[in-house]
Amino acid sequence: MSTEPAATAPLSVEGLTTSILVGTTWYDAVRDISFHVRPKETLALVGESGCGKSLTALSVMGLLPPAAVRVTSGRIVVDGVDMTAADEPTREAMRGDRIGMIFQEPMTSLNPVLPIGFQVGEALMRHRGFTRRQARERARELLELVRVPAAAERLDAYPHQFSGGMRQRVMIALALACGPRVLIADEPTTALDVTIQAQVLALMADLQEKEGLALLLITHNLGVVASVADRVMVMYGGDVVESGPVHAFFARPTHPYSEALLAAMPRIEGDLPLQPIPGQVPSLTEMPVGCRFQTRCPIRDERCAVLPPMTTVAGDPDHRVRCWARVEA
Ligand SMILES: Nc1ncnc2c1ncn2[C@@H]1O[C@H](COP(=O)(O)OP(=O)(O)O)[C@@H](O)[C@H]1O
Ligand SMILES: [Mg+2]
Repeated sequence: MSTEPAATAPLSVEGLTTSILVGTTWYDAVRDISFHVRPKETLALVGESGCGKSLTALSVMGLLPPAAVRVTSGRIVVDGVDMTAADEPTREAMRGDRIGMIFQEPMTSLNPVLPIGFQVGEALMRHRGFTRRQARERARELLELVRVPAAAERLDAYPHQFSGGMRQRVMIALALACGPRVLIADEPTTALDVTIQAQVLALMADLQEKEGLALLLITHNLGVVASVADRVMVMYGGDVVESGPVHAFFARPTHPYSEALLAAMPRIEGDLPLQPIPGQVPSLTEMPVGCRFQTRCPIRDERCAVLPPMTTVAGDPDHRVRCWARVEA
């Protein structure tokens, strides 16, 4: 693992808050979260559906739906560029060039009417001044890199002619085309069957090692976290509730929500959406004041009306939790 300081990591996020307009009121859907990802490192972001994982990713990418969703505070630095202070042309230039993103369902992000080879090469023409011919040649190499069989013949094929697993590889090739330093993968294997999932994850790990990528991997699968991540960050209701090195997290899960997620692990083998405890993540307009997990927490008490700070676990400065009941004396 790199020892590069957090401030100069390829991806560094400080105090990010992203808010959503509902009616005439702004609600914080991601609340004051901070993290960084170093070269070759994988940070896994986990939590049930609706916890703010995708909004975190889209905030970093500068791809929030305009008008109703916005970054209201914090700083996002990608490869030395402050994305929060940057104008849209600068952000646009960063996307696909310095930072790439892979979405859960590639059919929604690949253009159905353009050939695969053109789509993979497009970023190179846009960001790197490649000619059409150079872009096509590099697209073939990229498809080979992600192990699409018979890459040369498939440059002219369309997305619907590829299987789900092959489309996901095309998305990875597309995200990697310009040699980004940061890759964000939002549930990249959820739509795939288990064997193909394993292949895609192994491929990503291999490419990450070769290219020195910093990877932010969003997943609801703790088995995936255990096998590929270096560090983990658990989100609940827009808050980070626990973060730490993977070995420390699995050895000593400390937030009641993390404990519940891990206790539910055998039941989620089939890659069903996480639902570790009865009930649901409250909607944004119904979040309790203070700790947002209190409505489902087995150990809540009166202190939970105030949001607890992040505190260290077992004297490990890298392992931190946000729970009054877990504050060490
Ligand atoms: N475009 C949007 N408009 C309104 N609410 C949204 C929008 N996107 C996300 N949300 C809300 O923000 C919260 C976090 O969503 P999201 O980041 O998609 O969660 P996750 O990826 O963890 O499942 C949820 O309450 C969700 O309903
Ligand atoms: Mg999501």
